[in-house]
Amino acid sequence: MNHNILAQQYDQIHDSPKPFVKWAGGKRQLLSELDKHIPNTFGTYFEPFLGGGAMLFHMLEKNQKQACVVSDLNSDLVLSYVTIRDKVSELISCLKKHEKKYYEDSSSYYYSVRDSEPKSQVEKTARLIFLNRTCFNGLYRVNSKGKFNVPLGRYTNPNIVNEDNLNSVSHTLQSKKISISCRDFTSVSKLAQENDFVYFDPPYQPVSKTANFTSYTNKDFNIKDLKRLFEICLELDAKGCHVLLSNSHSPEVQKMFSKKPWKTIEIAANRAINSNSKKRTGHLELLIKNY
Ligand SMILES: C[S@@+](CC[C@H](N)C(=O)[O-])C[C@H]1O[C@@H](n2cnc3c(N)ncnc32)[C@H](O)[C@@H]1O
Repeated sequence: MNHNILAQQYDQIHDSPKPFVKWAGGKRQLLSELDKHIPNTFGTYFEPFLGGGAMLFHMLEKNQKQACVVSDLNSDLVLSYVTIRDKVSELISCLKKHEKKYYEDSSSYYYSVRDSEPKSQVEKTARLIFLNRTCFNGLYRVNSKGKFNVPLGRYTNPNIVNEDNLNSVSHTLQSKKISISCRDFTSVSKLAQENDFVYFDPPYQPVSKTANFTSYTNKDFNIKDLKRLFEICLELDAKGCHVLLSNSHSPEVQKMFSKKPWKTIEIAANRAINSNSKKRTGHLELLIKNY
C-alpha cells in the first residue's frame, strides 16, 4: 500500500484536525518527540512560524480550550486558515470543481490553475490546496517574484477534497481563543507574557550549500534573520517565557545557543522534502529550549 493511500485512510478515521497542506519542514513525523518537551503548565501557546500547523493541531488535540496565537509571513497560507475557518462550505464546493476538472485532464488543468491568479478569498485558497495536493512532492515553493513554481506531481488518485478534515479544522479554528495573523515572527516578543509557551520552527539554516530550501515566501530566511530570532529568544527568556526552537544541526545555530540557559537536544528526523527518495534517510536535527 503506498504512502498516499495510508495517509488518506489515516485522515479519514481521525476526527481531530490535521494539517490541510503538506508543508516543507512539516513536523507531523516529529510530534512524539516534540511532545516530550511541551511544558507541563503554561499560559498562551505561540507559534510564529505556523506552516502546516502540525504542532498547533497537536496542542489543540491535547486541550481544545488552549489559547493559541499563531502566525506566518506567507499571506496565501494565512488566508487559507482564515478561509477554512470562515467559509468552509464554499471552499469545499470550489475544491470539488477543481477535482472534477483535474480528473478530466490532469496535466493541462494543473498548469492552467498554476498560471491563474484568482482574486476571491475562496478561489485563492482552493487554488493553494489544489496545487498542494497535486504538485510534485506536495511542496509549496515560490520564485523570487512570489510565483508558485512546482511542476505537476505523479499521483494516480490524489485526495483533493478531504472534506472531513477541512470541516474539522474549520470547527476547531472557530474557537475564540485562537488568533491567526500574517506577520513577521518578531511580533511575538511584544505579545508573549511570563509563563507563555513559544515554539519556533523557522526555515532551517542550511547544513550544506546544496541543502538550501528557504523559499516559503519570496524572501529567504538568512543568517541576519537567524540573529534576529536569537535576540527575540533572549527577550522572551528574560520575560519568563518557555521557549522551544527547532533547527537543523548547523554549527551557526549550535554556537549561537551554546550558553546558558539554552539546552540543546539532538533528535533523529527524516527529511521529507528531497526529490531523491534515497536521500530522505535519517539525519540529526536540533531542539533548543530554555527550561
Ligand atoms: C519550517 S516551516 C514551519 C513548518 C511547520 N512547523 C509545520 O509543521 O508545517 C517555516 C515557516 O516559516 C514561515 N516564515 C518564513 N519567514 C518568516 C518570517 N520572517 N516570519 C514569520 N514566518 C516566516 C514560512 O512561510 C514557513 O511556513
